[in-house]
Amino acid sequence: MTRFAHSVSALRSSEIRDLMSLATAPDIISFAGGMPGNELFPLETVDKIYNSLTDKEKQVAMQYGPTSGLPSLLESLSGYLEKKGLPVKKNRLMLTTGSLQAIHILAKAFIDAGDNILVETPSFIGALSAFRSYEANMITVPLNGDGMDISQLKMRLETVQQKPKFLYYAPNFHNPAGIIYSMDVKRQMIELLRNQDIPVIEDDVYSDLYFYEEDIPKMQLLKAMDPERIDVCFTGSFSKILGPGLRLGWMLVPEHIYMKAELIKQSIDACSPSISQVIADKFIRGGYLETYTADVREEYKKRGLAMIEALEKHLPAYTSFEKPRGGFYTWIKLPEGTDSAVILRKAIEKGVVFVTGKTFDPDGVKNDYMRVSFCNTDVETINKGIPIMAEAIREVCG
Ligand SMILES: Cc1ncc(COP(=O)(O)O)c(C=O)c1O
Repeated sequence: MTRFAHSVSALRSSEIRDLMSLATAPDIISFAGGMPGNELFPLETVDKIYNSLTDKEKQVAMQYGPTSGLPSLLESLSGYLEKKGLPVKKNRLMLTTGSLQAIHILAKAFIDAGDNILVETPSFIGALSAFRSYEANMITVPLNGDGMDISQLKMRLETVQQKPKFLYYAPNFHNPAGIIYSMDVKRQMIELLRNQDIPVIEDDVYSDLYFYEEDIPKMQLLKAMDPERIDVCFTGSFSKILGPGLRLGWMLVPEHIYMKAELIKQSIDACSPSISQVIADKFIRGGYLETYTADVREEYKKRGLAMIEALEKHLPAYTSFEKPRGGFYTWIKLPEGTDSAVILRKAIEKGVVFVTGKTFDPDGVKNDYMRVSFCNTDVETINKGIPIMAEAIREVCG
């Protein structure tokens, strides 16, 4: 028997991954992925940027760089983050290999095996896997339409024996729940966490993809609120606003946390891809980030609204969902106790895939939800696929 480390023995191929392997038909309609549509990438701009590089810049792009990131990108990215109201100068910024690496590094910095941490339920699967790999004990706080259920958070904090090492949450266009945290919930989180010595990991990769400008004030980040006596570790990414293939994210964290994080990153990959950093830097400096984000925002809004309309038309009345106001996802509630894996199996037979609820449950149990994404399918495909998915639901739930 191969003797794997204890920390990875809990990592197994999930049932969902096995089910997904059935979804091989070439014309299958996928509402499963959380990635931008291939057809939306700014290929011409990236070509233009690369072709305009001098030989010296190309050499930098091919070389190792500083662990924290290339100085020019750190500067241009700081400008972008400052526009979001983030206190860049009071903190330290580090480029990471996707924001998932930022989450991993922070998890490594804080978690000893068996430590308690606070997470939302449902939660982003990538973060859950990172926390599992460090053998965290996840204490869950349920979400409602406004964010974390504050009374539950309060209760957890009052009753937990060993103080949680941190709280992880995603404020805007939540993956998978699709919600935006209200300002009121964020203020109450601050009240509860002040002076508790429980850092917050704030994961924000979707906030530029809003459908309605009126939501911008409400999407203010905890990091931007700059609460006293709470260490907020902010993580973000180019994945949804340029391309996940660059594998480029970042963390903005207090100095003392940065010092550890930099050492950890050094031991993992020394630095994030320089070639990606050179392109991202020119993308920001050329003013393309704003124009490109505005373009994709419109397209995702079209898709999101088409998804809402199709779901309202075709879903059975016993299901419900919060209408997304941005991001990539809708989160559909099925009748209590439904096993969405059974629906997925039927849907795959009919040519449609989505992701089952329990994938996002930190305890890996609750399965009466499904995540249906609208980011990677055009309006026509949404209109074709949703009636099929609704039929699969009816065949299972009646
Ligand atoms: C909530 C959330 N955080 C972080 C990530 C990780 O993104 P990346 O590692 O590509 O930056 C994702 C990707 O889907 C996500 O949905």
